[in-house]
Amino acid sequence: MMLRISVIGTGYLGATHAAGMAELGFEVLGVDNNPAKAASLSAGRVPFHEPGLPELLAGHVADGRLRFGTSLVEAAEFADVHFLCVGTPPGVNGAADLSQLYSALDGLVPHLTRNCLIVGKSTVPVGTAEALTSRIAELAPDGISVDLAWNPEFLREGHAVYDTLRPNRLVFGVTTPDAEWALRQVYATPIAAGSPVVITNLPTAELIKVSANAFLATKISFINAMAELCDLTGADVTLLADALGHDDRIGRKFLGAGLGYGGGCLPKDVRALIARATELGAGESVEFLRDIDAVNLRRRERVVRETLGLLGGALRPSGRVGILGAAFKPLSDDVRDSPALDVAVQLHAAGVDVTVFDPAATGPARAVAPQLVFAATAAAALHEADVVLHLTEWREFQELDPAFLRTVVRGRVIIDARNTLDPEPWLAAGWDFRALGRLVEPRTAPRVVPVVTPYPTPSVTARDLAAPSP
Ligand code: UDX
Repeated sequence: MMLRISVIGTGYLGATHAAGMAELGFEVLGVDNNPAKAASLSAGRVPFHEPGLPELLAGHVADGRLRFGTSLVEAAEFADVHFLCVGTPPGVNGAADLSQLYSALDGLVPHLTRNCLIVGKSTVPVGTAEALTSRIAELAPDGISVDLAWNPEFLREGHAVYDTLRPNRLVFGVTTPDAEWALRQVYATPIAAGSPVVITNLPTAELIKVSANAFLATKISFINAMAELCDLTGADVTLLADALGHDDRIGRKFLGAGLGYGGGCLPKDVRALIARATELGAGESVEFLRDIDAVNLRRRERVVRETLGLLGGALRPSGRVGILGAAFKPLSDDVRDSPALDVAVQLHAAGVDVTVFDPAATGPARAVAPQLVFAATAAAALHEADVVLHLTEWREFQELDPAFLRTVVRGRVIIDARNTLDPEPWLAAGWDFRALGRLVEPRTAPRVVPVVTPYPTPSVTARDLAAPSP
């Protein structure tokens, strides 16, 4: 008999996971304590922007494999495997707030009617699963055996459907063979498609997730620290990153220097790891992460400072700024800890007249920053702007027409804070194009010079070198 699945917490992670599980062939019940969210998902509507998810979700709601509700009692009666996908937002001093995990267990476990597996997917401080195991033991009805496993999620916003169906690795933190067996059943399809599986204990599984995000943040802040040096010395951080990336021990990914990282995961997970390590008496081990965070926040300050400088100084700035981007990254409408929105808010607070355009995130951005003005198009946001800031690297922005936009603005400065625009057409249209740690000059010669001279035949061959000396 096929396992039945419940997904508890249907935010970004849970809604995607529920739809992914239905796609893998399971009957799935998604449960959320927010009735409006459950109703929207039941009607096949995804309340956030994620390419491909609306079609997947609506398809499986329509074929009856996927449904949503608000009752944990119903989930307890329905499923063999319960995935915990609730949020673990920042709490006191950056430590993760685990209250949603505990209340999910309190609502679920006393109502269980048969042996089952509970699988944590939420990102948690190392040691959480062990504490939850004790709670489950206290709450479980007599005669019911409940296993707990940890199966962290590595999906990227904007690519969530792909990452769910074709994960680049699966991590199973388990304490029993039965738990491993159940997880292998659930993920049989991705495993067959080649996703490697790491089987480990609970603390390792928890720590894999936070350390993966801390490592990604470290890579980004490393290259941004190099960008600070590039700015001072006339070196070019994009070519530096290309050259580093050719070394496959380093790799080019996550060496995109610019405005730094944001979103619902990287900033919070770095701080939560510092908090947890400190609690464990190992604050020194992760001391460097404080610098990672500080470098990251300096990127935003740098753009704010330069912009205020262009507008007459921080004390009395005057002028208009047109901002391209509010989401924390492209293909997402998420503005949690968004560097772009943070810069917009800081400039507005300094007295600057700011107008923002984002292809997807206007609604969520307006909800958290109602003081800002939002435009319906890029051109409208740039109307009579003295300075233009490119803060989220949507592909649309790479396709803008710089010559037309020159007729719309009042000033001529654009700061490409994501280092993803091609300076050439902007310079050709008369813009004062600036970037972060990147050299911007008219391209007079090809940047990558092909090697045309064949290597001369060596006069000393390897064999000569290997020959024993007389
Ligand atoms: C991240 C992890 O990648 C994912 O595995 C985990 O499950 C959740 O956290 P996500 O938050 O969706 O995913 O965003 P990601 O693509 O990692 O980007 C994070 C931030 O870093 C964005 O603000 C992005 O703009 C920034 N970034 C990324 C850079 O500044 N430079 C880069 O080179 C790459």
